[in-house]
Amino acid sequence: MSGKGQGRRDQVGVDLRAPKGTQDILPPESERWRRVLDLAHRLFHVYGYREIILPVMEYTEVFARGLGEGTDIVRKEMFTFLDKGGRSLTLRPEATAGVARAFVQHRLDKAGMPVKLYYCGPMFRHERPQKGRYRQFHQLGVELMGSSHPSADAEVILLCSEFLRSLGIASRLVLNSVGDASCRPAYEEALRAYLHGRAEELCPDCRRRMEVNILRVLDCKERQCAGVIAGAPGLGDYLCEACRHHLQAVEELLGAAGVEFSREERLVRGLDYYTRTVFEFQDPVLGGQNALAAGGRYDRLVEEMGGESVPAVGFSVGLERVMNAGPSFPPGGREGIYLVAMGKEARKQAFLMARHLRAEGLRCDLDHLDRSLKAQMKEADRQGYRFCIILGEEELRGEYLTLRDLETGTQERLEAEGGRRVEAVLRRLEAWMVTRWKQTPGS
Ligand code: HAM
Repeated sequence: MSGKGQGRRDQVGVDLRAPKGTQDILPPESERWRRVLDLAHRLFHVYGYREIILPVMEYTEVFARGLGEGTDIVRKEMFTFLDKGGRSLTLRPEATAGVARAFVQHRLDKAGMPVKLYYCGPMFRHERPQKGRYRQFHQLGVELMGSSHPSADAEVILLCSEFLRSLGIASRLVLNSVGDASCRPAYEEALRAYLHGRAEELCPDCRRRMEVNILRVLDCKERQCAGVIAGAPGLGDYLCEACRHHLQAVEELLGAAGVEFSREERLVRGLDYYTRTVFEFQDPVLGGQNALAAGGRYDRLVEEMGGESVPAVGFSVGLERVMNAGPSFPPGGREGIYLVAMGKEARKQAFLMARHLRAEGLRCDLDHLDRSLKAQMKEADRQGYRFCIILGEEELRGEYLTLRDLETGTQERLEAEGGRRVEAVLRRLEAWMVTRWKQTPGS
């Protein structure tokens, strides 16, 4: 990942680096990203989710309504601007509200429920950048729409846990229920009574939160509020019968599936749309400051977007945080063929050979810088190719090719009568693959 690097300014001193809080993902890091994304696509597919690709901007109302006017995201962190017609647009700070908007707009319930969707892409929040916190970051997420059953919550949590586990990332799952419209008001009352007595100790933001949306006080990260929050009443004692049963059923399913978790009575999350289940996968060292993934149930959001009442549950993983947690993969190994050509005619033949070999799905490249034979071989090595095919004037005249294995350093001659060079290479590679498979079946 590259955020800093060398500063570039134009003649009038304008800063031409990537904007603050954004990053360029360069190779080979981008290749690690690709592997994580491929794994996610496969896993989500296996769990029956299908991809939805959303616009990166929505009318501001989608987020204001969906996430809640009192949330930090809506109040302080959105990249909002007017279009030429004077309508307010916002770069998406998250994707769940957009999924709900699309669900209603395209009447996705009509084809039958549940609707299981996943997405991946950039999100934008105007936060103070630091390690693991960016202004443009990427989320991978799933949303299961149309089921209020606890098994939907458990499936979503299990999927997130499987994803992190398959990347070899250790995490701690914390779980809670924020109740629903029938029991949350009683909890909010109890919290208000408690906080009123200690309002002086809270940060100015929290004193405002007490008036606007009191639950938000519980996810304040200011040190001065931590002690007050730690003594606040937990949600557990205030849940109604239905919410308590729901939570119990989710916990039972997770336990049966061997997913470890702990209850965190004051976990409420920073978005207003949640009802009942909320959860976070936290870094075992950093804790809640830098959640790797998070989600929960949101049974009223689709209705807020103008649709019917559609219960739903989902999660999002922060890709940068997952990458920082350092998923390791077995080294990729050498792959493909580099065509080393000397002389005008040989270069032309190599150009055409590359086209055919690529059409066969082989990773293949050749020189575009008029380099010497030695420099071309060096480049093949630097780019991680397994084989070099050498095509010089002598090879053209004699109708053969020279193949060099860059891993073993061995060299051999491939006959290519009648100019059938591509066939000669493919034949040799096939034989090589059979031998390799016999030595290590399944490779
Ligand atoms: P969230 O907790 O706001 O939830 O974000 C989910 C994840 O995105 C976080 O756990 C974190 O890994 C990552 N993340 C958030 N902000 C940043 C940032 N500034 N820089 C880097 N990573 C960040 C949601 O967005 C909900 N839509 C999750 C959800 C889906 N709930 C139901 N369905």
